[in-house]
Amino acid sequence: NSAALRPGLATNVWSYRARVLKGDPASVQVLHGSYLGPTLHVQRGQKLRIDFLNQLDQASNVHWHGLHVPDTMDGHPRFAIGPGERYRYEFEVRNRAGTYWYHPHPHGQTGEQVYFGLAGLLLVSDDEEQVLQLPRGEYDVPIIIQDRSFDDNNQFRYLSGTGPAAAASSAFGARQALGGMMGGGGMMSGGMMTSMMGFFGDTILVNGRSDASLEVARHPYRLRILNGSNSRIYKLAWQDGRPLIVIGTDGGLLERPVHKNYVMLAPAERIELWADFSNDDVGTKITLMSLAFEGAMRGMMGGGMGRMMGTSSMAAGAQFPMFMIEVTRESNGSLELPEQLSKITWLPVEDAVNRTAPRTFRITMGHMQWGFNGRTFEMTAVAPDELVKLNTTEVWEFVNDSGMMAMAHPIHVHDQQFQVLERRNGKGSDDVRDGYVDQGWKDTVLVMPGERVKLLMRFSDYTGLYLYHCHMLEHEDFGLMRNYRIV
Ligand code: C2O
Ligand code: CU
Repeated sequence: NSAALRPGLATNVWSYRARVLKGDPASVQVLHGSYLGPTLHVQRGQKLRIDFLNQLDQASNVHWHGLHVPDTMDGHPRFAIGPGERYRYEFEVRNRAGTYWYHPHPHGQTGEQVYFGLAGLLLVSDDEEQVLQLPRGEYDVPIIIQDRSFDDNNQFRYLSGTGPAAAASSAFGARQALGGMMGGGGMMSGGMMTSMMGFFGDTILVNGRSDASLEVARHPYRLRILNGSNSRIYKLAWQDGRPLIVIGTDGGLLERPVHKNYVMLAPAERIELWADFSNDDVGTKITLMSLAFEGAMRGMMGGGMGRMMGTSSMAAGAQFPMFMIEVTRESNGSLELPEQLSKITWLPVEDAVNRTAPRTFRITMGHMQWGFNGRTFEMTAVAPDELVKLNTTEVWEFVNDSGMMAMAHPIHVHDQQFQVLERRNGKGSDDVRDGYVDQGWKDTVLVMPGERVKLLMRFSDYTGLYLYHCHMLEHEDFGLMRNYRIV
């Protein structure tokens, strides 16, 4: 159905269909008026069985982003299935209550498939959350933010260097392009540029709609915000300067609410806000903004380059309104923000087997490919420094210092919820660092240019082959992804 950018013409999207199997306690809810996949509501401890039927004309699969599942259920690209084939996903939900999501993960086409509509939320609830007095029902609102570009017929416009259409022209264009950037002649193709820089659309969609707005009552709300964009990072803030009250991140509720003037939200990250409109008069309008920030792309590689290449009129790091909230009605009843939200059992850093010599992954760019430690994605390859032992705790350090290609990269590790142990900030991150919410469990962490981030994680329950990668989907498709193996 329609994103309704220009009247009259519907936008074609790719879609999931879902069916609740008889006797299955999971409930499925369709986001009203949205092209996004259905929202799955599940309980911790529940067993899920989902039959995936690939109705696309290309390989696909489903990754349950943030969930701790066996590797055959994790949506690794080696398990992508062809058109018309089926794959049965079956696993127990072991994660804490929180806002998780799902999307395809075939190598080289994740960006394209997500872009054309394949993504949805998976909301987990548990006993700890249920006794809390949090906003429920109509006061519990999912907000999925994506940027898109449209052509004159209201169809999504997408270009990358890794899709089938791009394959023919990519290698030659790339070499020419590097010459171009180094000061020679030549020019990079738009697709190659997108693969290296990321895709940046010029229209913000919220739950699949442009110019989105939300009518609310004078009541507290739980806003579950997912950055479902391919590559765009947001710096969220309320326009009227009121603080953002953060109650949750990727892996569920924080221990206590955290007040922020702004919050950085990179692709795949989730943030849960307590937004209380009880003291706003009916008629009040409040806009959620994305504020300008430096460092999304550095120097000559910045937004001007993106504009020049015609990929977007809205540069990475630009300021713009996201969506508007209007208080339209009274409410009966109210809620108090709980002082204690959850109990987090932190991993003791003393338990880390490599505490003094962390496993280090440096983001690299060479031979026109992104990589970790100079290695690009290979379907089943695992290097010696990508082997970890089951039932151990480790420190992983991601280092983002890749020279002239310095860009922000949101790093995602499959099968894990980790703790952010330490950040060493580089230059140019001054206007983003107050926007990190590192106080809870995370599965995706933003690493700005010049930054080094240490993560603490424990490998438990399952052995097997999992992924770590940049969640700018164009970077991921372009090789900034590797396997790690738990043995
Ligand atoms: Cu949401 Cu491997 O990704
Ligand atoms: Cu990246």
